Amino acid sequence: MSTFGVIVLAAGQGKRMKSSLPKVLHRMAGLPMAGHILRSIGLHAPGTPVCVVVGHGREEVEKVLRQLPEARSLKLSFVLQAEQRGTGHAARCAMDSEWGAEQMAAKHPILVLPGDLPLISADLVEGMVAPLGRTDAMRLLTCELPDPSGYGRIVRRGRAGPVLRIVEERDANVREKAIREVGASIYFFQGGFLKAGLGKLSNKNSQGEYYLTDLVSQAVRAKKKVDVLLWKDPAEVRGVNDPWELAEAARLMNRRIVRGWALSGVRVTDPESTWIDVQATLAPGCALHPRVQLHGLTELAANVTVEAGCVLTQTQVAEGARIKVGTVAEDAKIGPGANVGPYAHLRPGSELGASVKVGNFVELKKSRIGDSSSVAHLSYLGDAEVGRNVNIGCGFVTCNFDGRVINGERKHKTIIEDDVFMGSDCQTVAPVKIGKGAFVASGSTITEDVEPDALALARAKQVNKPGYAKKLRAQMS
Ligand code: UD1
Ligand code: CA
Repeated sequence: MSTFGVIVLAAGQGKRMKSSLPKVLHRMAGLPMAGHILRSIGLHAPGTPVCVVVGHGREEVEKVLRQLPEARSLKLSFVLQAEQRGTGHAARCAMDSEWGAEQMAAKHPILVLPGDLPLISADLVEGMVAPLGRTDAMRLLTCELPDPSGYGRIVRRGRAGPVLRIVEERDANVREKAIREVGASIYFFQGGFLKAGLGKLSNKNSQGEYYLTDLVSQAVRAKKKVDVLLWKDPAEVRGVNDPWELAEAARLMNRRIVRGWALSGVRVTDPESTWIDVQATLAPGCALHPRVQLHGLTELAANVTVEAGCVLTQTQVAEGARIKVGTVAEDAKIGPGANVGPYAHLRPGSELGASVKVGNFVELKKSRIGDSSSVAHLSYLGDAEVGRNVNIGCGFVTCNFDGRVINGERKHKTIIEDDVFMGSDCQTVAPVKIGKGAFVASGSTITEDVEPDALALARAKQVNKPGYAKKLRAQMS
């Protein structure tokens, strides 16, 4: 049972991003910015009714956010703010909607978050939504910043007295601009106060906008209490307004993620060059060398080593496997004790069994390699099923596409059964099957099935002409 509602302000265009993508959809650590906010709420309070106020690029924002697995643990709604008339107006759009009426009926207090603060943590959410006191109109999150420029300043009575109001930078005088305590645009409102207060906002300010920040002075004037949560970690409340701030925020978030895994028992050689998405999971005993990137739902089991420069996306790696320098894998499964790379390319649908070896410059696509088999050098396997204990020599190619379409399938299958020995520099023209225990001679182009335990030789017979080279040389000179 949820005990509060959440409004996420995400209607702004984000002009300073200089991008056609709506600001809250810019990605970091595997999620759009607003996705990180939904994740933090979901981690603290699953089932919470969340209303995202959308405007610029609203169809895209709604579509992307609805599809996120992070959204599934929440009750997600969207409300349109057709014209961006300020943060107060945006919150009003939510409270005046059916969603707002439901929150009022349920007597829910309301947490308001801007969509451009991706670094807020589940801890911060927890701190903000602690029950309000009986006489509190709201709780306000503030933070002291070494450089407060761009933020609304917290004006207090005297130096450390109660909060009186928030003044936006553009409306601030010189003395107010010197204040380093800022508002982060994160609030927890008593529902009735929010609903009534939004109706009373004015837009008589330098930007001609309805400011949500003005609810603070409203509460003070009405002699209601404003509770303040002074947050110690300025990094968490950093707004992202331009591509440089996005890059900085992404680095901070990455550092947080990498540090978390390091403390859980993962050895990270170079935290600054290691990038791990928020969805990835790593077991203790793993080691990550410099410049490793783990994207999406990548899972590393215990004692996996990922060497320098590998990029793994949605890839599952079983215990003890070693992924060597420069390997790229996507939607792949790597079995226990497998050895992959250096410079291997596992494309979607690649599955390696236990103790498989895939060596340098090998590309796999939609191919399964059985336990203890080896494809050690310079090969392409597409749409192949390879059994156990198979040895594939250097330079093997599955010719899986011949321009025909059979039963709707454009690509054809190559089946290589257990214990096959494939000599170097062979090709199989699919569809084709090589039976268990067969030998394929080096340099063969296999176009017909090979029965189990047969030797297949498919190359032109060699002819040696004694002395002929000498004759040729004489002709040429
Ligand atoms: C806001 C605060 C400021 C605070 C800062 C913290 C106000 C008036 N100012 O300023 O005190 O220090 O955040 O980051 O609240 N939005 C809408 N509809 C609108 C306007 C904005 O949905 O009409 C959304 C934006 O998409 C954004 C958020 O509200 O996600 C904040 O808006 P932004 O314009 O970035 O406000 P700031 O100038 O950063
Ligand atoms: Ca902002």
